[in-house]
Amino acid sequence: MKKVYIEDVGKYEGKEVTISGWLYNKRSSGKLYFLLVRDGTGLIQCVVSQADVSDQTFKAAEEVTQESSLIVTGVISADKRAPGGYELQTKNITVHQLAIDYPITPKKHGTSFLMDHRHLWLRSSRQTAILKIRHEIIKACRDFYDERGFTLVDTPVFTPAACEGTTTLFETDYFGSKAYLTQSGQLYSEASIGALGKVYCFGPTFRAEKSKTRRHLTEFWMVEPEVAWADLDDIMDLAEEFVTYLVQRVLDNKQEELKQIERDTSMLEKVVAPFPRISYDEAVEILHEQGEDFEYGNDFGGGHETVISEKFGKPVMVHRYPSAIKAFYMKHDPEDDSKALGVDVLAPEGYGEIIGGGQREDDYDTLVKRIKQHSLPMKAFDWYLDLRKYGTVPHSGFGLGIERTVAWICNLSHVRETIPFPRLMHRLRP
Ligand code: 4AD
Ligand code: MG
Repeated sequence: MKKVYIEDVGKYEGKEVTISGWLYNKRSSGKLYFLLVRDGTGLIQCVVSQADVSDQTFKAAEEVTQESSLIVTGVISADKRAPGGYELQTKNITVHQLAIDYPITPKKHGTSFLMDHRHLWLRSSRQTAILKIRHEIIKACRDFYDERGFTLVDTPVFTPAACEGTTTLFETDYFGSKAYLTQSGQLYSEASIGALGKVYCFGPTFRAEKSKTRRHLTEFWMVEPEVAWADLDDIMDLAEEFVTYLVQRVLDNKQEELKQIERDTSMLEKVVAPFPRISYDEAVEILHEQGEDFEYGNDFGGGHETVISEKFGKPVMVHRYPSAIKAFYMKHDPEDDSKALGVDVLAPEGYGEIIGGGQREDDYDTLVKRIKQHSLPMKAFDWYLDLRKYGTVPHSGFGLGIERTVAWICNLSHVRETIPFPRLMHRLRP
């Protein structure tokens, strides 16, 4: 018998095929059973009529339970009313394993119950759709940079030094000395541009975030382009083109999934370049206009980002933050030393920061001074300083957080649903 995936059944109209999957749902009506079967590529209704099947198969249809694994053979027919547009007229059913008391039932469950059962929750049609959109976004990230001549560099996970501040480091024992899980591949991407000109790294990054917010994970994925000879404006152009591309790819290829999760796509269609570019000072003005109690010079919290980003129907780029609240590697604005040539991209609909980046300090002496000012261990940065000794160039880059981007594009209330197995301050299971 021809083994097929549900997404391909349209090619087999009138033919007998075998599909293998799990029981999603079941209805019965007299001598008929309607089994809704899923296999990861789609859903199909299998009609089981007592008149057409053996007693054994009819009994299997009667007994099979939600999430049992099963193999169904039958003939494909078109049916406009059916999910996916096709039905299977069942001839034979083999229950591979009968699932008893599947814990996630169609009734409503609380978040903590669902999170404890994340290994099973993933099977719900909503979670499946989100993971497919995540996959499209990740693939689009790679395509975007590959098509533009960037080389992928895989940066290490074990690192000897902090990139994004010492307060969120995960420390591990590395054969008797200390190592940290990477917070960002940036420093290594900066080294790689000396060899390759424009590069990107893409991998998991780690932050011991002690904050319990809807935007923070302790393990998240980041794609980080880095470009030699690029200044802050160049990198803002790149960020704008990149974000537009990601949204368009999801709109082009994942309509069905967007519908499944009931995403209002009109908001996504507005994501076209150019994006507004405002300075930190202008962003603070917006906060004050909106009556927010915000002290000039501080960093924005999630709530402030929400207020700023809600003002614009599309992503907004906020640049030139006070250098005092930004990382040691940021180049200062030659026109105002109190400001860093950094940029954050805030997603609309209240989602806040999805990108952080900017222009890097490329002068040796200035960088030495900054490392001292930030009380960072000079020795850990000797190789990074070499980059400023041997053919230094102006350069810029940024990092886009995959989970925050998925949360925004899918309009989710929390990043925990954007990654198969989220890692949060109080969650290491499953
Ligand atoms: O703004 P961040 O900290 O920038 C960097 O790490 C730079 N070194 C990147 C670079 O220039 N190459 O982080 C970048 C992005 C944020 O905008 C956010 O989308 C995401 O990473 N991010 C997180 N996502 C989920 N959970 C967390 N705890 C995150 N921290 C940062
Ligand atoms: Mg940031």
